[in-house]
Amino acid sequence: MKLNNYALVTGAASGLGAALSERLINEDYIVIGIDQSQDWPVRLQKKFNSNFIPICLDLKNTQELHGLKSEIEGITDKLDLVVFNAGLNHCGRFFSNLKVHLDVINTNLISQLIMISELETFLKKDSQILVISSTASLKPSYFQISYGLSKSSLNYFWRSIRKELRQKGISVTLAVVCAFKSPFLHKGNMDLSRHPRLLPLDYVAGKCIRAISRKRRYVFIGVRSKLQYIVFNLVGWRVGDCLTRFLNRKESFDLFDR
Ligand SMILES: NC(=O)c1ccc[n+]([C@@H]2O[C@H](COP(=O)([O-])OP(=O)(O)OC[C@H]3O[C@@H](n4cnc5c(N)ncnc54)[C@H](OP(=O)(O)O)[C@@H]3O)[C@@H](O)[C@H]2O)c1
Repeated sequence: MKLNNYALVTGAASGLGAALSERLINEDYIVIGIDQSQDWPVRLQKKFNSNFIPICLDLKNTQELHGLKSEIEGITDKLDLVVFNAGLNHCGRFFSNLKVHLDVINTNLISQLIMISELETFLKKDSQILVISSTASLKPSYFQISYGLSKSSLNYFWRSIRKELRQKGISVTLAVVCAFKSPFLHKGNMDLSRHPRLLPLDYVAGKCIRAISRKRRYVFIGVRSKLQYIVFNLVGWRVGDCLTRFLNRKESFDLFDR
């Protein structure tokens, strides 16, 4: 008899990955957290040896990823949920630094292609995949070229491979997320004056968990207009959320086949 559900979460040491890991542990998952940082949040450290298994891995170092299969084999034979969350951002002109752009593409995109190939044997009927994409994937931006390129390619990849996975009973939820409060924006050299409206981290984590529990094919999590911002902050997140869904319904239909 299988007692526990196993979830693998990338980028679990910080921001959304840490918030999702905590929520999944509270829902009785055993979480295998992958991150390059060994600086695990204290709240997750308390779960070490019981329901949080940390793995230190640099996702942009694609050679390291080929050892992942044997590492997971020592833990479980089935992953009930895989959350592709880890991400790297860089804001700046394309011609300034090619290496950093390649790091962004390796971390955000290539690592996922290798990981899904390595993890295929652990994905069985009813396994789920959650992919954290970004609204930066939806329109070109001259100052976030490699980030937008990696995220839009992810949208393409996961929407395309979805059918193949569905034949095995595996579902994919693609989350397209607006800017939210986390250390991410500072790390990416982001000018925060461009993003005065930031979603609360807990709100984003809650929406992601709800989307996977409902097996949604995609979820758009965000604030687009001043009106939405005012409603979100003055009236409340629930009403703001309904308005977001209403305002984005056309775009969502255009972007994602249901
Ligand atoms: N925050 C936003 O406004 C926003 C908006 C839309 C979408 N997203 C997406 O949401 C996801 C999570 O972002 P977040 O805001 O939670 O960011 P975060 O707080 O920076 O967390 C990302 C985690 O991934 C880790 N990571 C980065 N590169 C890695 C690598 N090469 N190998 C292993 N781990 C690596 C980071 O480690 P280090 O701390 O060592 O770098 C960090 O622990 C990302 O995919 C991001 O693109 C974020």
